[in-house]
Amino acid sequence: MHWTLGISVTFSSIFLRLSIFLARRLRRPRPSAGTHRASRKPLGGSRKHIRKIILSRFGSDPLIFFNSVYQNIAPWDIGVPQPAMAALIEKYSPANPILDLGCGSGDLAIYLAKLGHQVVGVDFVESAIKNAQDKVSSLPNETAQLLSFQVADALKPSLLQEKFGAVFDSGFYHLFNLEQCQQLIDEVASILKPHGCYYLHEFAIEFPIPNVPRQISINELQTHFTVEKGWRIKEIQTVEFLSRVAPPVPATCACIERLPI
Ligand SMILES: C[S@@+](CC[C@H](N)C(=O)[O-])C[C@H]1O[C@@H](n2cnc3c(N)ncnc32)[C@H](O)[C@@H]1O
Repeated sequence: MHWTLGISVTFSSIFLRLSIFLARRLRRPRPSAGTHRASRKPLGGSRKHIRKIILSRFGSDPLIFFNSVYQNIAPWDIGVPQPAMAALIEKYSPANPILDLGCGSGDLAIYLAKLGHQVVGVDFVESAIKNAQDKVSSLPNETAQLLSFQVADALKPSLLQEKFGAVFDSGFYHLFNLEQCQQLIDEVASILKPHGCYYLHEFAIEFPIPNVPRQISINELQTHFTVEKGWRIKEIQTVEFLSRVAPPVPATCACIERLPI
């Protein structure tokens, strides 16, 4: 109890500091970005736009938030895949090709390629993808040729027009509200081959501060991923989510199979 509270307080304070830092940065006048944004949305906005702002945990334009985070080494960038995800990969070997949603600077995708898998990583932050591509250039040719990174909206993987044997999601699903997650699940269902698996590793803890992921409970995943909806949960458990900046926090990890329809 005290241990968990201690971790929560430490992690909250770090994210709080990060949030304050980012909020200040984002409030600073930036002529080109400001002009561009003003021309896209009239002040006051439409009802739909306002609703979007309220629903998003990362402000009205999450790309601005994540671009700012990647100006430094991101808190989740631990240089290796999350250990719980690596354990899941060892237990349930993924089928090819693999898609890594919100791949960040590419460590999970690179880990999978080193195991011999063919991997596509997508993220909407250009500098994160550039960082991933730079890492690829120092890999042996046989590993590098298994990897491809691209700037894309990972909420719309069907636009890639490819079917995948496995989809990886390390800290992506937990960025979104329930409505967006349902749309993401439908998207993932549409790109997974029969018996392909969706691997997830998400926060299992809620912090009442802005710009921090939402709590994903085992119960939520069990409600979304039912046999009736064409899914079979092969494994689901509470694990840890590591970061560069704070002690581990509780996380939910799952390997979920897409059943043939
Ligand atoms: C918590 S980070 C996790 C990064 C990486 N998967 C890892 O485990 O280190 C979430 C990632 O999702 C990316 N992201 C958020 N929304 C996105 C979107 N709509 N399309 C593509 N990437 C997105 C962010 O840029 C960020 O790299």
